[in-house]
Amino acid sequence: MKVDVLLGLQWGDEGKGKIVDVLAPKYDVVARFQGGPNAGHTLEFDGIKHVLHQIPSGIFREKTRNIIGNGVVLDPIVFKTEIEKLSKFNLNIRANLFISKKATLIIPTHRLLDQAQETAKGDQKIGSTLKGIGPSYQDKIGRQGLRVGDILSPEFETKFRKLIGIHFEILKNHSIAYNWIELEKNFFEAVSFLKTFTLIDSEYFINDELRNNSSVLAEGAQGSLLDIDFGSYPFVTSSNTVTAGACTGLGVAPSKIGEVYGIFKAYSTRVGSGPFPTELLDEEGEKMRKEGNEFGSTTGRPRRCGWIDLPSLKYSIMINGVTQLLMMKADVLSIFPVIKACTHYKLADGTVTETLPYEFVDQKIVPVYTELPGWNTPLSGTKESDLPSNLLAYIDFLEKSLGVPISLISIGPDRTQTILRSTGKI
Ligand code: GDP
Ligand code: IMO
Ligand code: MG
Repeated sequence: MKVDVLLGLQWGDEGKGKIVDVLAPKYDVVARFQGGPNAGHTLEFDGIKHVLHQIPSGIFREKTRNIIGNGVVLDPIVFKTEIEKLSKFNLNIRANLFISKKATLIIPTHRLLDQAQETAKGDQKIGSTLKGIGPSYQDKIGRQGLRVGDILSPEFETKFRKLIGIHFEILKNHSIAYNWIELEKNFFEAVSFLKTFTLIDSEYFINDELRNNSSVLAEGAQGSLLDIDFGSYPFVTSSNTVTAGACTGLGVAPSKIGEVYGIFKAYSTRVGSGPFPTELLDEEGEKMRKEGNEFGSTTGRPRRCGWIDLPSLKYSIMINGVTQLLMMKADVLSIFPVIKACTHYKLADGTVTETLPYEFVDQKIVPVYTELPGWNTPLSGTKESDLPSNLLAYIDFLEKSLGVPISLISIGPDRTQTILRSTGKI
């Protein structure tokens, strides 16, 4: 069998958690391959809303094994809190959750460094979630990071002291307030807790599963436009959020990748700083935020909102090799009499283009829009056969523009508010 990949094509928060949960019963294994507690993946069913940060979104499905892969940065403190929150739901978490020994650890100084680096950037700040993502990946790439497997070594505390020594040297130059005694105590308690879980060589685990014909779904975090290489650098996260990241973040060969599900909202959102060509700074944007309940799942910050951006979606589809598209939050656009879609960018020098310029960050890009009639009909509970014709026309327009079929339409946050199209292959 091959690994199917589900990832966000925009700036994150496309609805990955919801759809991984919907698809999980079809998979033996769900695996996270990058990111860490910066992610907030929302799942809703039976009237309860769950937000997962580091635990894969297959955890609510009894028969699905869940892996935190080597490409993830794992904060033991956040991990402990997440598991404790889930404990009241009678899940078999210990039997169904496996953590790569090669995943990088986030230690408390990483969070302090994140704060220090952001503050130092002033009005150029990234808008980081301040979960220690950048600093922990810096240590990984700088070949001085700690990994989950290290917690099993008698040398762990020595290694930890050496690393925090390096961090404190940097922190001396910043005025960040913290209570180190408490941070360290919480960290070591959480490390002891993490030790009681099954720590694995996840690359062997996953490849053995594939050999035994198990189906595997790789769950992306963030979105392609936040990718460290291909996103709107430097306003990005610190990992490869694209399909290639699933190979390096899990230890699966490129030839083992099967379907690539590209998930996108029927409009666009972004949380944090950085360019956003179709951003609506007016009342329409405010309406979108309210109707879509666009507030960050991890930080609670209001998300910036705007119309769909086809040049950037095409770019993400190209980089990821997307085979099927999944469209989320169609219901949110029901309030608009006219739907706009950005088909081209007008650059500062007057050029009209469909490609993302290298100077994406440093110039004012003006979106060129096509207008389509809205459907003005609430969609909650709608069946495939009853979808309004103007929504079908919007879907048809997107499929033709993007060149990839849309296999799934989401019409509400709940598991059940999901239409798997009969024309699709899911
Ligand atoms: P993720 O990070 O990609 O998993 O997405 P988030 O969970 O951060 O954000 C998506 C938000 O949209 C969550 O609050 C979901 O409950 C909600 N959501 C998902 N799909 C739909 C949908 O089709 N319609 C509406 N109205 N909300 C949705
Ligand atoms: P999910 O998986 C949306 C954004 C932050 C900031 C930038 C860098 O829920 O889609 P970081 O904390 O990684 O240093 O922040 O990336 N960001 C996200 N935006 N959804 C996410 O995850 C995000 N994770 C990080 O807002 O702009
Ligand atoms: Mg999210």
